[in-house]
Amino acid sequence: MVAREKTRFVCQACGAVAAKWVGRCEACGAWNSLVEEVAAARPAALGRAPAPGRGIALVGLAGSAPPPPRLVTGIAEFDRVLGGGLVPGGAALVGGDPGIGKSTLMLQAAARLAASGQEVIYITGEESVEQVRLRARRLNLAAAPLELAAATHLPDIAATLESRRGVGLVVIDSIQTMWLDNFDAIPGTLTQVRASGFELIRLAKNIGFSLVLVGHVTKDGAIAGPRVLEHMVDAVLYFEGERGHQFRILRGVKNRYGATDEIGVFEMTDHGLAEVANPSALFLAERRGNVAGSAVFAGIEGTRPVLLEVQALLAPNAGGAPRRAVIGWDGGRLAMLLAVLEARCGLRLAGNDVYLNIAGGLRISEPAADLAVAAALISASSDTPTRPDHVYFGEVGLSGEIRQVAQAEARLREAAKLGFAGASLPRHLARGAKRLAAPAGLRLEEIGHLGDLLAQFAIGSAPRAKPAEPAR
Ligand code: TYD
Ligand code: MG
Repeated sequence: MVAREKTRFVCQACGAVAAKWVGRCEACGAWNSLVEEVAAARPAALGRAPAPGRGIALVGLAGSAPPPPRLVTGIAEFDRVLGGGLVPGGAALVGGDPGIGKSTLMLQAAARLAASGQEVIYITGEESVEQVRLRARRLNLAAAPLELAAATHLPDIAATLESRRGVGLVVIDSIQTMWLDNFDAIPGTLTQVRASGFELIRLAKNIGFSLVLVGHVTKDGAIAGPRVLEHMVDAVLYFEGERGHQFRILRGVKNRYGATDEIGVFEMTDHGLAEVANPSALFLAERRGNVAGSAVFAGIEGTRPVLLEVQALLAPNAGGAPRRAVIGWDGGRLAMLLAVLEARCGLRLAGNDVYLNIAGGLRISEPAADLAVAAALISASSDTPTRPDHVYFGEVGLSGEIRQVAQAEARLREAAKLGFAGASLPRHLARGAKRLAAPAGLRLEEIGHLGDLLAQFAIGSAPRAKPAEPAR
């Protein structure tokens, strides 16, 4: 078959190649990650002979190219995360845990695009044609003029795609099932995924269709085996969500054609994924007022404001090191906030186990959440509910000062839209001479120091509640 075969061992975590099998990858330290592969002497895609170079055109920095045209699927939450739609000739990777809904999402997007008159090809490597048809019937999409095939042998797929110049979108579900003959490695290994991905991306560029690769993610967040794929594609989107929850988040983590902090929110239904145009209402739907330890954070996800409930629970520590369990937020930031509350405001939390949860399963990374987390913690510690119609945002500094955060006005508008009556926010510095345009009817409470926040709660009669003098 090949002229010279060489056995090698490839780490499925990092791609390092070793001559001998070892239990632990010497490059990345992963255990039991080496897989034996027999590689052809020259692992060129599809074994073509090297073509002579033709030279490249060099241009200056000035000048402009028109922005790439977009293929708008019509599923607004999906299009927005992509930065306005799919890009012809571009490749996107949609990753996520098995069973999270990737196939459903891509079938819906593909069918929508096909119904709008684009040629769309859907290749499934995991399911049979019948299974995909069954899903299409359940989703009421069976009438969409989409072209479907169950195939995994990439040269066959490539031959079909080469003969179809007018295709707008090709979905490969999933890249881990594709294989080329040049390698003895089984489908799903790093070598196969990398070579298949490379070949499909090359076809997309040459023929000009938009390519979507579906990929399964391992528990630690890497797309199984091929981290390498992330570097090869133009956009990487993760589809995520908690199994028990009915909604799913599509999150952009890389995008050569748009912003990466955008999220799309979907709700799972019997008829597939429904777009959620107003995520705040969904995330706050199960909130119960009048419970100590809960505060509403006015956050920003991408270009959109989103209101979320922060929940804190303090429990007396039964001995041993106190527990700090965090879901949806950064544990290091919680530790910092607890230290600031103790050192600058005299709040006694050290003897407690602290549990913090962002309700609904969303992950937030904005420092602007500090003030809402602090409010939830103080509320839990004083057993006093926060005001039910109040939102919080602001970053907390190490001396307990509250710092400005971006997009205050968008946050306030969202709060007013959802019927909130008040907001605690960083003190607006007059320096910028720019007035904060707050929506009418929203009561603003400017917080300069965490001590001011404590004063909102009935922390006994302890004089601790008095705002700490600016430390230092
Ligand atoms: P599927 O799209 O097959 O997930 P993945 O391709 O990521 O492995 O969806 C998994 C299961 O969930 C499938 O049995 C269908 C079901 N499902 C719904 O019933 N409604 C929905 O909105 C979604 C997204 C999935
Ligand atoms: Mg699937």
